[in-house]
Amino acid sequence: MSHIDLRSDTVTSPTPAMRRAMYEAEVGDDVYGEDRLVNELQSRVADMLGKEAGLYVPSGTMSNQLAIRSQTQPGDEVICEYNSHIFNYEGGGPALLSGVQLHPILADHGILTKQHFSGVIRPKDHHYAQTRLIALENTHNRAGGVVYPLPVIEEVAEFASSQNLRMHLDGARLMNAVIASGLDPSAYADHFNSVSLCLSKGLGAPVGSVLVGDSEFIDRAHRFRKIFGGGMRQIGILAAAGLYALDHHIERLAEDHHHAKVLAETCRDLGYLENDIAWTQTNIVLLRFPEGNTQQMEHQFKAAGLLVSVVNDHSIRLVTHLDFDKAQLVRTIEILKRVLG
Ligand SMILES: Cc1ncc(COP(=O)(O)O)c(C=O)c1O
Repeated sequence: MSHIDLRSDTVTSPTPAMRRAMYEAEVGDDVYGEDRLVNELQSRVADMLGKEAGLYVPSGTMSNQLAIRSQTQPGDEVICEYNSHIFNYEGGGPALLSGVQLHPILADHGILTKQHFSGVIRPKDHHYAQTRLIALENTHNRAGGVVYPLPVIEEVAEFASSQNLRMHLDGARLMNAVIASGLDPSAYADHFNSVSLCLSKGLGAPVGSVLVGDSEFIDRAHRFRKIFGGGMRQIGILAAAGLYALDHHIERLAEDHHHAKVLAETCRDLGYLENDIAWTQTNIVLLRFPEGNTQQMEHQFKAAGLLVSVVNDHSIRLVTHLDFDKAQLVRTIEILKRVLG
């Protein structure tokens, strides 16, 4: 029997219906702006998030990096959370591609509140880097898929505006937050100058993210996308997958969240859930191994038929997704009980 793969929600394969949409897609040259489905996807996501314009890009990493490059100058500073994707998993991109320094701040469950910014913004003095941008992550991946509370975002945005700072949202899993909270996507996006949404995570497309913002910002990002090598040609076949995902794979995220909750309950009962179960809010479950033996546990899970992701010496992550069904849930619970019980 094949392994159950809970390493990430990026491991999904396009469904037969999504593949059909890709197969049937008409295409044009998107570098000339002539791919109708790319244009449709960009405006669909921009409309959904209440922004003027959108830009289709190959990955969430490129989307975040374009947002930083387009809203800063070399020598500026970007504030983000210590466990954010931008700080940990994007290869030092902000230094390499934008010449900016990151100012990471550690926050409980990845949630930066207004209080975290007290005394953090650099004075306007030649000794200092200029603080230019605040980047938040919703849901927060490494914190375990935590949903950013909207009132906290509102407070941070108000503060940012009072300091003339721009706001970027790494919304790789924003739709998970939307489904978990019941809020409109634009309720979150309204507080940010730029938002990145991934189609290749919970939404199940094979590739792609859309970056949105006002037209001037997207125009700048478009130029940098070309410079970063992200101008693609007949990609209507990919945009078709993204459009299909928006039509068919948003509401079903509730199922992933339910599966994650059931797994979290099992891990809690076995004594291995990292946080209180209230923090399992979307599709990510964090397990805690106080002895620091996560590599060994990863091997044990694999031998039992389950692929997991090692976050660090003490944490293992399970992520539910489109290709994880009820039968696999039952098998996973059995494996967890066998390995951890
Ligand atoms: C929160 C977050 N942002 C950005 C990314 C980057 O996306 P990609 O793998 O498409 O570059 C990820 C990937 O898992 C992520 O979890």
